[in-house]
Amino acid sequence: MAILIKNGTILNPATQTNEVLDVLITDDTITRMAPSIDADGAEVIDATGCFVAPGFIDMHVHFRDPGQTAKEDIETGSRAAAHGGYTTVCAMPNTSPVIDCPELVHYVHNKAKEVGLCNVLQVGAMTDGMKGEKLSQLEPMIEAGIPAMSEDGKSVMNTNLFREALRVAAAHQIPVLSHCEDINLVDGGVMNAGPKAEALGIRGISNAVENIIEARDIMVAEETGATLHLCHCSTKESVDLIRCGKARGVKVSGEVCPHHFTLCDEDIPSAEDSNYKMNPPLRTAEDREALRKGLSEGVLEVISTDHAPHTEEEKARGFTKAPFGIVGVETAAALTYSELVLGGYLTPMQMMEKMSYNPARILGIDKGDISEGKVADVVIFDPNQTYEIHAADFHGKSKNMPFEGRKVTGAVVATILAGRVTYRR
Ligand code: DOR
Ligand code: ZN
Ligand code: ZN
Repeated sequence: MAILIKNGTILNPATQTNEVLDVLITDDTITRMAPSIDADGAEVIDATGCFVAPGFIDMHVHFRDPGQTAKEDIETGSRAAAHGGYTTVCAMPNTSPVIDCPELVHYVHNKAKEVGLCNVLQVGAMTDGMKGEKLSQLEPMIEAGIPAMSEDGKSVMNTNLFREALRVAAAHQIPVLSHCEDINLVDGGVMNAGPKAEALGIRGISNAVENIIEARDIMVAEETGATLHLCHCSTKESVDLIRCGKARGVKVSGEVCPHHFTLCDEDIPSAEDSNYKMNPPLRTAEDREALRKGLSEGVLEVISTDHAPHTEEEKARGFTKAPFGIVGVETAAALTYSELVLGGYLTPMQMMEKMSYNPARILGIDKGDISEGKVADVVIFDPNQTYEIHAADFHGKSKNMPFEGRKVTGAVVATILAGRVTYRR
């Protein structure tokens, strides 16, 4: 089976290639890239006016499988990811049961392979049942193929236990994906602390809730030599902390989610609309601007989604009672292009870096590069299409997100996973 992608603008961060070329895919491999290729019998995809880039890699999704499959499962999550241009995702372990042993890692990997629409890399929890009391079966899970460890959904509040986990991560050279939240300082907050929370009569979460644990984690990474990746950075101080850590030689990186660089707390319409409720919360316009600048300057290297599906019934409970989280894999590329590329913060090449090349580099996986000889994980993205986001168009199970009706520019027109088309617009 061969696919010939004609006339697209190649954006390959690994080689800094930015030119119009044809791409020939034979079986699962990129076999040729050249100005004009003819290939008898190949399926031709016309990519005129489109970007052809490495398939997106999302370092942060919740696919809810096992145990919470009313929200999402590996098949619907994979379908949604393919629709969003993703060929690889890292699934967080806060499922039911928690992914804290090798058997559960195998369960997810096997199911994802059966589905065959996306590489789902299962992240292992750092502590047993995510209870924060003792380490999980980290080494057996590393043996089973976890790409990273994470306690996402919370922080390992016991710093000594956290340090033990980072020692294991450092010894095996896998990154730690850290959700930073001082649980004692949250104090019942559900949205950003400040005038908007006061106006809505909702309890606030201050920036310090996040910043304190980020600073702690950077110091523990410095002491252990572990690779630390900070999840969903939302505060202006997080950019300073990462900049400072990097200057000290710490192996630290950070990700931003589209909702945090697109929206701010002032956009929250009411105390009822929990589609604006996620953790960490939407911060101030000033925080948002610092995140955009941090991405632009390269301090923040990754755009991830924190795709967090929840049922309609759960999200209808109002701001205080509904669970935290919004879905994201099907809107991330369009929001990134609309807000950051058209907004002048990123070049198209930098967008691809943050959505594929940098995640692969941080995870230490041989992906995110569409050079000849590499596996054909490819996204074709049309930067000229303008349309409205509608949850009714989503392929995932859940529809919880605050972008209904929002006008965006940029559409995924095809996703190719190891030489097979997994999505076509
Ligand atoms: O908004 C969030 N949703 N933040 C988290 O940390 C957890 C996630 C979830 O699992 O729903
Ligand atoms: Zn989190
Ligand atoms: Zn998360």
